[in-house]
Amino acid sequence: RRPAAAALLDLAGRTAIVTGGARGIGETSVRTLHDAGAHVVIADVLADEGRALAGALGERASWADLDVTDEAAWDRVVGETVAGRGAVDVLVNNAGIANAAPVEHFTLAKWEAVMRVNVTGTFLGCRAVVPPMKAAGRGSIVNVSSVEGLFGSPHLHGYTASKFAVRGLTKSLAVELGPSGIRVNSVHPGFIDTAMTARIDPGRLDIPLARPGVPDDLAGTVLYLASDASSYVTGTELVVDGGMTT
Ligand code: NAI
Repeated sequence: RRPAAAALLDLAGRTAIVTGGARGIGETSVRTLHDAGAHVVIADVLADEGRALAGALGERASWADLDVTDEAAWDRVVGETVAGRGAVDVLVNNAGIANAAPVEHFTLAKWEAVMRVNVTGTFLGCRAVVPPMKAAGRGSIVNVSSVEGLFGSPHLHGYTASKFAVRGLTKSLAVELGPSGIRVNSVHPGFIDTAMTARIDPGRLDIPLARPGVPDDLAGTVLYLASDASSYVTGTELVVDGGMTT
């Protein structure tokens, strides 16, 4: 039977973990999933901002101190979430960092830092939620890649490699976990005005919608992929870039 339109986006009774949830695109995702009725776990290294956001949202929001590169911390956060809520229905792997330099000055430290947060952090998150999602027979994992996971730009070697890796990890997991009822998709934002892009001038970008994106432009995308509105969507690449890659 066809579900009612509002029911497609209803997350009442569901639990979502959003990494990097304290600000930027992650904060928008937290607010939107919370609006849709989910209990949201705000997982970040920014304790002051994360606690303040959880406090402002009140009921159905909690703060978790999580460095996504820390394997033991993932076990703790997912364990506590399952103990308290019974399940993890949605994981948004949004935490990420960016760095840039001409390739001959791109240090090993830069390379390892961006790969560790963006790739290893996403892998650890996916791995940690699979057991409870398999037990429930359902789940949605949303991995935030970038248009840099679709093409390359100068100086962004590590970042671009990391976002291609997130896209590849997503495909592999979508195929492996589909039979368990777990959907895994990637989101590819273009230029979004956040702390990460504060030093980039969007004026030089060719954006058909003729404006830089804002975090709220990602709200519907994350909600769609997290919810039953996308019940038959897995392994897809959802590009949210104002037409930049067209
Ligand atoms: P942001 O810098 O405002 O937010 C990133 C969040 O991730 C922060 O709250 C930060 O504390 C958290 N974080 C960083 N390292 C962490 C770690 N090790 N453990 C836990 N949390 C950590 O940046 P923005 O723009 O909101 O980025 C969110 C995601 O969107 C990132 O994955 C980024 O690569 C991606 N993205 C952003 C675009 C943009 O134009 N702003 C474009 C395409 C992708």
